Amino acid sequence: MVTLICRECNDDKGHAFVHVCSDCFGALEVQYDLSKVRLNREVLANRYPSMWKYKELLPIVDDSKIVDIGAGNTPLIRADKLAKKIGVKRLYLKNDTTNPTYSFKDRPSSVAISKALEFKLSTVGCASTGNLAGATAAHAAKAGIDCLVFMPVSVEQSKVQQAAIYGARVVLIRGTYDDVNRLAALAADRFGIGIVNVNLRPYYVEGSKTMAFEIVEQLGWRTPDRIVVPTASGALLSALYKGLKEAEQIGLLKESNAAMTVAQPLGCSPIVEAFRNNYSEIRTVTTPSTIVQSLAIGDPGDGYQALKVVRESGGSCGAVTDVEALKAVELLASTEGVFAEVGGAISIAVLKRLVDEGEVGRDEEVVCCVTGSGFKTIDVLPRPENITTIDAKFDQLSGLLRTS
Ligand SMILES: Cc1ncc(COP(=O)(O)O)c(C=O)c1O
Ligand SMILES: [Zn+2]
Repeated sequence: MVTLICRECNDDKGHAFVHVCSDCFGALEVQYDLSKVRLNREVLANRYPSMWKYKELLPIVDDSKIVDIGAGNTPLIRADKLAKKIGVKRLYLKNDTTNPTYSFKDRPSSVAISKALEFKLSTVGCASTGNLAGATAAHAAKAGIDCLVFMPVSVEQSKVQQAAIYGARVVLIRGTYDDVNRLAALAADRFGIGIVNVNLRPYYVEGSKTMAFEIVEQLGWRTPDRIVVPTASGALLSALYKGLKEAEQIGLLKESNAAMTVAQPLGCSPIVEAFRNNYSEIRTVTTPSTIVQSLAIGDPGDGYQALKVVRESGGSCGAVTDVEALKAVELLASTEGVFAEVGGAISIAVLKRLVDEGEVGRDEEVVCCVTGSGFKTIDVLPRPENITTIDAKFDQLSGLLRTS
């Protein structure tokens, strides 16, 4: 039912612990025999609400190996107040901040660590811009296997601390994410470690499709006009699109025509640059310069694929400044009660910009993916002005309330 196909030469590489094509070095992608998948809307409606209810479209062959700490089944919230501020007809938030480790990365990690158990690996790890570290470490803890996470030394302290508390060995590297990724790839190669986003990558990315399945199911089995996606390596956006196509192919969806839209920080926006300038290749950003650490990937592994998806789906790309990203965090929290990290709220900032620029129509129905919790990037938020400290004295309190 599950096999790996080369994206470049289309060769079938079977079901194995490999991630690049042995013939052409192309990336491998999971393919299912969709003609054998028996899933319908009614069956899904009656299943326990979890990302694993879509397991026929996930690459696990032995159910007893599933590592589930409660990822997925996140809310799709109608955001009318925010829609009005931004100027679109209808807006929904896919709130993935509610995942067990507070980012969407629990979805791919759950699949990757399950796969590591199937392949009988004793150590797993990841190269992370912050969120994947916690997600991998938590799932490895549940699975009872060793975990080694690699991150740039510049990532937020909360993310470092979080990964460590689950018991993972945390290695902080003086360098960019791309340096970290190269070292992790060497560790995978020389020590046989299952690095979830390197040598387990074809399986790992499949987990993110469940966000697309949930969105269309929560909308009553239809696609919105547009899905805006915080993007770093391009894996999430590509996986969402793959999920929509598969849902269409097995008859869950009539049409899967959402315009897939990339959201990146201006200080590291290689996919946006390639789209806007019509490049055929992605040009690496050697020194990312942004406070949006979680999206600071200069050489995006699935960048080319993401670009293809944007073009094929009639989507778009947008980049915003750090100030715009910070403002979006505040706007999202103060209008809809959702507290996102800067990388998670960037979908809101980019949507606003694209509407202002006339690139996104005001008559559209849009889903913005909100991919990580605000508690993860408290460090970069400016101190709010609406905080006052007083002594425990009523005169001070009444003075305060009278003047405000
Ligand atoms: C909060 C958040 N959103 C989105 C992404 C983008 O993921 P991808 O690398 O799949 O494009 C990341 C990646 O680390 C992230 O941390
Ligand atoms: Zn190949």
